[in-house]
Amino acid sequence: MADQAFVTLATNDSYAQGAMVLGKSLRNHNTSKKMVALIGPMVSEPCQSVLKRIFDEVKVVDVLDSGDTANLALMMRPELGVSLTKLHCWTLTHYSKCVFMDADTLVLSNIDELFDREELSAAPDPGWPDCFNSGVFVFRPSLETYGRLLQHCTEHGSFDGGDQGVLNGFFSDWATADISKHLPFIYNLSSIAIYTYLPAFKQYGGNAKVIHFLGSTKPWSCTFDPSTKQISGGGQEAAARPCFLVDWWTLYASAVEPMLQEQSEEQPLLSGCVESQQSDSVTTETVQEESSSSHAPLLPTMSSEERKEQWEQGQADYMGLDSFDNIKRKLDTFLK
Ligand code: UDP
Ligand code: GLC
Ligand code: MN
Repeated sequence: MADQAFVTLATNDSYAQGAMVLGKSLRNHNTSKKMVALIGPMVSEPCQSVLKRIFDEVKVVDVLDSGDTANLALMMRPELGVSLTKLHCWTLTHYSKCVFMDADTLVLSNIDELFDREELSAAPDPGWPDCFNSGVFVFRPSLETYGRLLQHCTEHGSFDGGDQGVLNGFFSDWATADISKHLPFIYNLSSIAIYTYLPAFKQYGGNAKVIHFLGSTKPWSCTFDPSTKQISGGGQEAAARPCFLVDWWTLYASAVEPMLQEQSEEQPLLSGCVESQQSDSVTTETVQEESSSSHAPLLPTMSSEERKEQWEQGQADYMGLDSFDNIKRKLDTFLK
């Protein structure tokens, strides 16, 4: 039905790559629904072009940020203040019902049946199961609800500094009111759950329909060797879910990377995500990795000025170009 859509969000190029893989996975499993990507103004032109080829609609929205450093520090996720931008999904009123999916999710089979559910349906959060996880949820766009959500933010803030805190505060009877609004865990299988309850994963994991790479290590912050199918650079967290990471990377390498490459021929800005020796700013530059056959995600380069501006607006790409590892590498070159 044309008035139903899957919706995702990317405020920067790193998450945009996640959105591209998610979009491709939905298409590969023959969704009959529309697909919408909400993006922040900082997403580069080449990435926007690729998103437009995958999604039916790409909409630029203002980045909303909680700025709640104290609660975000408790979660050790300083970048998640901008996840409040997700609330814009309620403004998509040309659809009557939607399913929001984080850009770090991957669809493993057709999930159109989620549209049979009502607002607000979601799966339990693995960290606190009386809260729902806001990485996958069914909702009804409505300007009235959007206004009330913003008002709720202003009056009560977010207990975790991100959207999940606000949404659980707003839809506060989720845990108890209506069991049909509890999505089975297989629609939002957080990778964390794989190692916290391995026997359950062995028993039920084969039915997984959506995998959620929840946590600070994202697929695009790892590297992938297509010949050996080895993932590296993701630490312990990544080691616990190599099969799904390989699925993500296989789709990235086969369907997304070629599109980014094509786009780079038209808009010659794309390159691999490694730091430049010539860079004179603290933030790292991107240049093509020459020697290694393994893949790091392709990312559009940005001028130092643009990067600086982004930092000053609190929009550092903590998970990608501005990751701790990259900054450390940069500092090491100064020390040498
Ligand atoms: N997001 C984004 N830019 C950011 C951080 C988050 O666009 O800098 C969006 C993206 O859709 C992402 C979602 O907000 O999937 C929630 O963040 P994340 O998935 O990192 O949170 P987690 O699921 O790991 O708690
Ligand atoms: C969570 C959710 C994510 C949300 C974040 C911040 O862990 O997975 O979707 O953005 O919390 O509230
Ligand atoms: Mn997520």
